[in-house]
Amino acid sequence: MSYNLLKGKKGIIFGALDANSIAWKTAERVHEEGGEFVLTNAPIAMRMGQIDELAKKTGSQIIPADATSLEDLEKLVTESMEILGGKIDFVLHSIGMSVNVRKGKAYTDQNYDWTQKGTDVSAMSFHKVMQTLYKHDAMNEWGSIVALSYMAAQRVFPDYNDMADNKAYLESIARSFGYFMGRDKKVRVNTISQSPTPTTAGQGVKGFDGFIAYADKMSPLGNATALDCANYTVSMFSDLTKRVTLQNLYNDGGFSNMGVSDYIMESFIENEEKK
Ligand code: NAI
Repeated sequence: MSYNLLKGKKGIIFGALDANSIAWKTAERVHEEGGEFVLTNAPIAMRMGQIDELAKKTGSQIIPADATSLEDLEKLVTESMEILGGKIDFVLHSIGMSVNVRKGKAYTDQNYDWTQKGTDVSAMSFHKVMQTLYKHDAMNEWGSIVALSYMAAQRVFPDYNDMADNKAYLESIARSFGYFMGRDKKVRVNTISQSPTPTTAGQGVKGFDGFIAYADKMSPLGNATALDCANYTVSMFSDLTKRVTLQNLYNDGGFSNMGVSDYIMESFIENEEKK
């Protein structure tokens, strides 16, 4: 269903790799709501993914950019304004990667070069994106910037590894830069903390199937899907949420405020009784 919530709005969407990506679903929904955007991803992901198909479907242009490279980001921001014919109203940062997770290194045995790489890609890139937008005065007033996070920023999920620290850093950047974006540009900055979602990045986490099933059974409304996240992001880009800023917003079916659910407790007791 479309409400034309983003009619006339222009933006940049990072991180659509394939049809499972949260950014992919968001691009589809933003398009349905009348928004126009440039799609971007790391040059390597362009070769692996199917972003051309999404660009065709949404009438968008693609600009490759490694989100850790200031040079790439400068080019992305200036070219996007040319393509879109003016300043930008919305930006989605949907980027995450841990080399330690990818290579199976335990949290207690990190390779710090990999840790640094993951931090740069998953968190510092958000600062770099916003600093580039800020310096180019590229955002329209009442614009909206969203990055995607996960609750391991607040609570312990051992297999989420160093991504937990990256998400804590990401959420802090949203608040810290959000202040300056609000004060100087009237732009809001928020993170959406999403349920575990079956995507390429999500499935990289060890024990992901258990992780996702547990969260689903713990949450009164069940896990939020990629489409749910896309819809939430559309509302955050729309004028309906003009003064929501510096927030970490949970889109998780209620998981973050649960202690235990009946289902989880019953399964636990059943297992105990078998012992
Ligand atoms: P995905 O694998 O489809 O998307 C991750 C994207 O990051 C890919 O498109 C990848 O090419 C891009 N990326 C990696 N390095 C990059 C670089 N140097 N420059 C530019 N882009 C780069 O997976 P998903 O799940 O859609 O991830 C999107 C965001 O959602 C991430 O921040 C992730 O941590 C977050 N998230 C995912 C959850 C899940 O369970 N899948 C749960 C909560 C948050």
